[in-house]
Amino acid sequence: MKTITITKPDDLHLHVRNGAVLKTVLPHTARQFARAIIMPNLKPPVTTVAQALTYREEILQAIPAELDFAPLMTLYLTGSTTEAEIKKAAASEHIHAFKLYPAGATTNSDSGVADIKAIYPLLAAMERLDIPLLIHGEVTDDACDIFDRERAFIDTYLTDITDNFPGLRIVLEHVTTAEAVQFVQASSTNVAATITPQHLLFNRNALLAGGIRPHYYCLPIIKRESHRLALVEAATSGNPKFFLGTDSAPHLTSLKETACGCAGCYSAHAALELYAEAFERADALDKLEGFASFYGADFYRLPRNSGTVTLEKTAWKVPPTYGKGNLSITPLKANEELGWKLQ
Ligand code: NCD
Ligand code: ZN
Repeated sequence: MKTITITKPDDLHLHVRNGAVLKTVLPHTARQFARAIIMPNLKPPVTTVAQALTYREEILQAIPAELDFAPLMTLYLTGSTTEAEIKKAAASEHIHAFKLYPAGATTNSDSGVADIKAIYPLLAAMERLDIPLLIHGEVTDDACDIFDRERAFIDTYLTDITDNFPGLRIVLEHVTTAEAVQFVQASSTNVAATITPQHLLFNRNALLAGGIRPHYYCLPIIKRESHRLALVEAATSGNPKFFLGTDSAPHLTSLKETACGCAGCYSAHAALELYAEAFERADALDKLEGFASFYGADFYRLPRNSGTVTLEKTAWKVPPTYGKGNLSITPLKANEELGWKLQ
C-alpha cells in the first residue's frame, strides 16, 4: 500500500471555539497535529493575556488523554489594546502572536480594528518586542466587490504596513489570490502566509455552480481557478514563506444551512488528508512535509516537532456530520470519499 510519512505537522491557523463545540472539534486536530495557533475570535474576543491563559486551560482540558497537543495562543487586537498588554504577551511563553481583524471583515470581528493607521503605535511595539502580527487581509468597504477585497487590502493597507514596519513578522492569513501570493513572494523574509485546504482544492464553482453550497462558504471567499492554481504553485514550491494553516472554522450545521449562513469551513476532521490530496494532484507529495511540518515552526521560531505521522492511500467516506445530540457540524467533503487516511 502507498504510504507517506512526515514529521508531525502544526496547524498555524485554527478556530476551535469553546464549550461543547471545542470538545467536539479539538480531538480531530490533536490526532493530526502537534501544535496549533489558536484564533482568538471568541464571543467575547480574547484580548488579554489573562483571558488567553484561561482559554488555554479550557483547551488543555479538551485534549483526549492519549494525545499530545499544545495550543499556541494569540490575542485579538483592538483599538484599545495597550502597549503594556503587548509587552505582557511578548513575555509570555504561551502567547505567540496578535491577530488583526479589520472590524466587520469576518465571523466575530465586530471588535476588530476600525482604523488601521490609528494602531500603528501598537504595530511599532510589536515590531520592537518581536511578536508576530497575523492579518485577516480583506477590506470591509461595502462598495468593494467581495472577490476583490483581499487584493484591495494589500494595496490599501498591507504595503504601507510592511513599508513602515520592516522588522515586524507578519503572516497574511489564508491567502486566496495570485496577488497575495506575489505580494508575499516579493516581501522580505519577515512576511509569510498560510494556505487552507479548501483554497487549494476548490474554486468558486464549488460554492456556486449547480446550486449554492454553504459548506464551501468561508472568508476570504474562494476565488476563480487561476487563483487556485497560483496557491497550489506557492504551497508546493518549497518556498518557506508558505505554510499550513487550515482555518478550520466550525459552525453548527443549522447556522450554515440557512438564509444567511456563517462564514467558515470545517476541515479539522481530515486536514492532512485534504492537503495530501491537493499535493498529490500537483504531483508534489515530496513538498508536503516542509509545508506542513517545518516552515511554520521555523517562522514562529519554535523547535520542529519530533515524531511522525503516516498517511496511507486508503479510501474512506467522510461522515455527514460530527457532534452528539443537537450539536451538528458538517465537515468539508461530507458524505464524499477521500483518498488518503491518517494511520
Ligand atoms: C472564521 C470563523 O468562522 O471564525 N471564518 C472564516 O470564514 N474563515 C473567521 C476567519 O478566519 O475569517
Ligand atoms: Zn480563520
